Amino acid sequence: MKGIILAGGSGTRLHPLTKVTSKQLLPVYNQPMIYFPLQTLLKAGIKDILIIVSPDHSGDFVNLLGSGRQFGARFAYEVQDAPEGLAQAFIIGEEFIGKDDVAMILGDNIFTHDFTSAVQNFKGGATVFAKQVPDPERFGVIDIATDGKVLSIEEKPEQPKSNLAQVGFYMYDNKVIQHAKNLKPSKRGELEIVDLANIYLEQGLLNAEVLQGDWIDAGTFESLYKASTIVRENNLGMNLEGDLKVQFEVQDVKKPAGI
Ligand code: TTP
Repeated sequence: MKGIILAGGSGTRLHPLTKVTSKQLLPVYNQPMIYFPLQTLLKAGIKDILIIVSPDHSGDFVNLLGSGRQFGARFAYEVQDAPEGLAQAFIIGEEFIGKDDVAMILGDNIFTHDFTSAVQNFKGGATVFAKQVPDPERFGVIDIATDGKVLSIEEKPEQPKSNLAQVGFYMYDNKVIQHAKNLKPSKRGELEIVDLANIYLEQGLLNAEVLQGDWIDAGTFESLYKASTIVRENNLGMNLEGDLKVQFEVQDVKKPAGI
């Protein structure tokens, strides 16, 4: 399976920090934010990775990450000219994906969940991941039947059908490229990831799994601060001295109140 890290976007909620650099290059305690989604892919066994960046700071990503050899991986880069939606990643990444399946992770999402078995057991269609949250109306909300079947997936619903938010890690079969090309931009002018999920849902090919570990979308000042605290207190992140040592085996994550 190939991997994509989606690290473009405008990061307006972190202005002025993101006026001179990308959100995904900002520090989360002692490491650039993008190290965390990168580590999630590497840990899941995905080594062929496309990093999609915005034009403004594209060179900084190459300076930081290079060819991937340092990480035991191979990196490719593409520029997204304008932030026209998460689902555009599969159009931009068409050549990179080739005939393979693909996992995508958002460049500002930090997980302690291990996706290895999900990647190894992927058998086509699409798999999305959900996490229980107290405020589901802020997210894409997934309603799952007791047998694990997805009943609905809705973007920021006023009346959420569950408290399960869709998180920023997704797996798709190769048909995702064609599905993404068929999408129409939403009212806010973006190709929406939830519309992609709904195509698979209509075909009975959408699966969902509930996350075990923690999940932080580090896109606001408050969540960025909390992410730094969690990373510091639990010694998360990459150890790049010697072999890549993945340190996400945390069972009881210490965290500040409110996450
Ligand atoms: P968001 O946090 O939804 O958007 P943003 O990064 O532009 O931030 P803000 O809302 O504060 O302006 O994006 C989630 C992730 O996806 C983040 O890593 C940026 C990335 N992204 C892209 O790469 N391209 C896009 O077109 C969009 C919408 C997001």
